[in-house]
Parts: sequence; structure tokens; C-alpha cells
Amino acid sequence: MKAIEIKPGIYWVGGIDWDLRNFHGYLTQRGSTYNSYLIIDENITLIDNVKYYMAEEQMKRISQIIDPAKIDYIVQNHIEMDHSGSLPGILEKCPNARVIASPKGVEGLPKHYKKQWNFMPVKSGDTLNLGKRTLHFVQTPMVHWPDNMVSYCPEEKVLFSNDSFGQHISSSERFDDEYPFNTMMNEAAKYYANIVLPYSKQVQKALDVVKTLDIDVICPSHGLLLRKYIPEMLEMYTKWSANSVDKKALIIYDTMWKSTEKIAGIILEAFESKGYQTRLFNLQYTHISDIMTEILTAKYICVGSPTLNNNILPTVASFLTYLKGLAPKGRHGLAFGSYGWGGQSVGMVETILKECGFDMLEQIRLQYVPDDDLLKAEEQKLITQID
Ligand code: FEO
Repeated sequence: MKAIEIKPGIYWVGGIDWDLRNFHGYLTQRGSTYNSYLIIDENITLIDNVKYYMAEEQMKRISQIIDPAKIDYIVQNHIEMDHSGSLPGILEKCPNARVIASPKGVEGLPKHYKKQWNFMPVKSGDTLNLGKRTLHFVQTPMVHWPDNMVSYCPEEKVLFSNDSFGQHISSSERFDDEYPFNTMMNEAAKYYANIVLPYSKQVQKALDVVKTLDIDVICPSHGLLLRKYIPEMLEMYTKWSANSVDKKALIIYDTMWKSTEKIAGIILEAFESKGYQTRLFNLQYTHISDIMTEILTAKYICVGSPTLNNNILPTVASFLTYLKGLAPKGRHGLAFGSYGWGGQSVGMVETILKECGFDMLEQIRLQYVPDDDLLKAEEQKLITQID
């Protein structure tokens, strides 16, 4: 439980959540961290906090460096409880510390914790003198909540970016160059797809600011700190926030008696024949948050369900609800499925994909068990529609 010095006088004092596997529906196979940072200067400053059950771990790390009673400022870049849960306990140790947050943060914290602390709202362009160093604040609303902001220390070239550039990874390593690169980037993509994607327009505005800063280290609030792969991460954020897609098609479905699965199979063949990277996901076996990671760069999203009780299968409904909320833009969709008599499922899937704003291919809706000739004909028809 060591504090880690990331620059002279600046320490990581967060918590490592090795066992976390569910982050409001997002499967976090690698756990996570809640990153908190301590700056030792004339005014001692804590940046961001940790989830409530990590409070003791954070306090032990802080106490290795200073007596927590000496903290002068607490910068709360974001009020979501994974970053503010330990704040009430910290403030019991240093009740006179000023709590610095955006105006929305100052408004939101008392609504969470029912306390009126010594608040100091800051806006974009405001600075805070710590002694030898300063902090510059930039509001980044909706990356990920209305209150979000980032803090930049120009003297040390450190950006405290909160939710931006995070990854749900628990590890003893703290820096990007100590950890497998591809795993880190895949977790960064998963984080973007499942948390940040709906706010891509706001991300682009934040990136415009970040790209003007001279940065040695990016300190996000989850996962590894970036000191080597900053250009690579900025490049991927630029791509993801632009909804820029690859020549990639996903076929996502559930099936009752394998007729919908047969249709999924010919859709797979059709896209492969056109040279697409193609991925097949049965919703019984793959978690929706992992499918979202692939959707981040997929051009075609094909979704299939048989009809059950005049409806779609619950697994497909769950996936579509999640997809619609995360709102990827500029995609193409295809609804497919089998049916016995009512046959409402395909139309229902198509309606939701249209509500997502997708350009739709002609739906594939086949009764009972389709034979090979019928499937082949549908495959050929589909091939003519694919770019
Ligand atoms: Fe990691 Fe929006 O909190």
C-alpha cells in the first residue's frame, strides 16, 4: 500500500479495486483503480478521491506522506461517487480544507453528501496558486457528468484528466510503459465505448484544449497513468470521438431453435465475401459491454432475434437498450430473425436500430427453419446491398 511518487512532490494515493467485476452493468474483468493524487507544496492539495470502501487504503497512502489534517485544498474534478466517496471521511480529518469543484460540482456535492463544506467553485480559465506550482482548471461538462473538469499543473506538465483517458485495470503497475500496451489500449477502448461514447462531441472540445497543453504525464482517475503513450491515446480518442469506423461488421443475436443462428451465419458469409472484418456474437455467451468495445469501430451492426411471446428475446432487448443509450453515430444496421407465426421481433429490432439513427439494410425475416436454398438467396440479396 505504498504511495507512488509520479513527479517530485506529487504522489498517487488512490485505491486498487482488485475484485470489481461490475460497474453499473459494465463487466470489469480486470478490476479498476480510483486514482487520487497528493501535491506537496506550500498549500497541500489532494486531487480527487476514491470509492467509499477504498477510503482506508487511500488514507494509509496519504498518511505515509503527510498528516491528512494538513491538507489545504481538495480538488474534486468530478463528483461521481467512485471519485468522491471518501471525501466526507477526508474532511473529518481536515475540516477547514477548501473543496474546489466546478459550479455544477459545488451544486452536486451537498446533494450527494448532505454537507455544506468550505466550497470554492472554479470555472475554465481559473487558476489556483499552490506555492511553487499552480493548477489551471478547464471545465469538461458531460465528460462524463455535467460537473466534470480537468486540472493542469504547467510547472510539472501534469494533466489530472479524471474520467478522460481512463481504463478499468487493477494492477501493481502505475504507468502505461510498465503494462502490456495492447491490453491497456483495449481496456481504454472498452472504457470509451461503455462510458464516454455518448459524449463524443464534448470529448472533441476537450481534446482541442488538451492538444494545446505541454504534457509529460496524464493522470486519469481510473487505471494506468500515461507518460509514454500519450500520442497514441490522443490519436485513438480523436478517432473514437469522430465516430470513425473500420471496414468491420458485427452480427449480434440470440436464438431459440437455431433458425436465427442460421440467418446470422449467412450474414457472416455475406460480409466476409465483401472483405469485412466480421465478428459473430451470441448474446448468451458474450457480455454486452464487450460487444460495445467492438461496436466502437464497426460500420455495420446486425441484430437478430426470434419472436418469443410477440416480442424479442430478453437478451436482445437488454443489448438494444444498452446500445441505444450509448448512441454510436453514423452506423448501418440490419434486423433479422426467424419466427413461427406472429413474427413481430424483426420489426421491433428494426424500429430500435432506426431510433439509434442507423441507415438500415433490408430486413431478413424467415419462418420456421429456413432451407439452404432460401438462405443462399438471402445471402446473395444482402451482398448486393453492402458497400
Ligand atoms: Fe469514474 Fe464518472 O466516474
